[in-house]
Amino acid sequence: MKQENLNVIVTRKLPKLVEKRMSELFKTQLRPDDEPMSQEELATALKKADVLVPSLGDKINKEILVKAGKRLKLIANYGAGFDHIDIKTAMKHDILVSNTPDVLSNDTADLTIALILGVHRKIFEGSRILTEGQWSGWSPISLLGKRISGRNLGILGMGRIGQAVALRARSFGLNLHYHNRRRLHSETENHLEAKYWANLDDMLRAIDILTIHVPHTPSTFHLINARRLKLLNQSSVIVNTARGEIIDEDALTRMLRSNELLGAGLDVYENSMSINPRLKSLKNVMLLPHMGSATYESRIEMGEKVIINIKAFQDGHQPPNQVLPSML
Ligand code: DGY
Repeated sequence: MKQENLNVIVTRKLPKLVEKRMSELFKTQLRPDDEPMSQEELATALKKADVLVPSLGDKINKEILVKAGKRLKLIANYGAGFDHIDIKTAMKHDILVSNTPDVLSNDTADLTIALILGVHRKIFEGSRILTEGQWSGWSPISLLGKRISGRNLGILGMGRIGQAVALRARSFGLNLHYHNRRRLHSETENHLEAKYWANLDDMLRAIDILTIHVPHTPSTFHLINARRLKLLNQSSVIVNTARGEIIDEDALTRMLRSNELLGAGLDVYENSMSINPRLKSLKNVMLLPHMGSATYESRIEMGEKVIINIKAFQDGHQPPNQVLPSML
């Protein structure tokens, strides 16, 4: 059924172009500053909106969803991951949820490669030594890293981002391995030149670099736990641009501290911004503030996807990126 005059509430400041287009198309309440909404503000927004546009910092949990107003019909998430939204409760209340996949895959894959290179080649350490005035000139034995070509890269989760990483990694001479719930079609697998491992533990024993590209769900929480971390060899590097909850961060920190792993490149953390201080003090890590999709292009295209999802809903169609039960 066609919907008129949708009341759209946006929880975070978005790129100007996106805000402008949204305001032209819908009755839109924008966020005036770059501060996340409090739970109280979110609860109020859920009562007033026909469509809520949240992003990953907003906890759309059962508690506030059950108190949402009867008007709320669509949560058009600005982002690909939707682990901050209680989808099952939303569905029970006939609230549709949509997300913004695809458009951020290449940028996230680029950042993944940057982390792989950054850790192996000590790029962060080199930059720090120089800017802190500790560089004493070229030396045959300082800042020696590890060549990545010829290493075995294990991709955990071979969806859009995993495949974009695979395409890039091949050109760096990495040997590709992957573990995924479902094996890829043989044509795609051959194109990517990636070896499938049905058993994650077996793959972990065979690789030198692990990069994570699965969503955070109850079944992937701490998928990389202390036991699995121990299956990796001592010169392994772990990279995570997906969600922090997939790795047991304390176990990872312990192993990095005791040099049971070579290093880690992380863009996401188990408890959002409260990062284990011991992890932050390590030299063999490169830590970034969740910036995988942080390009102008991705963030504008994510906004375009949000708009298309709302517009389709307004016109009485299914949002093209509706989150479906099969995706949980
Ligand atoms: C997402 O969209 O889920 C990403 O994590 C944001 O970078």
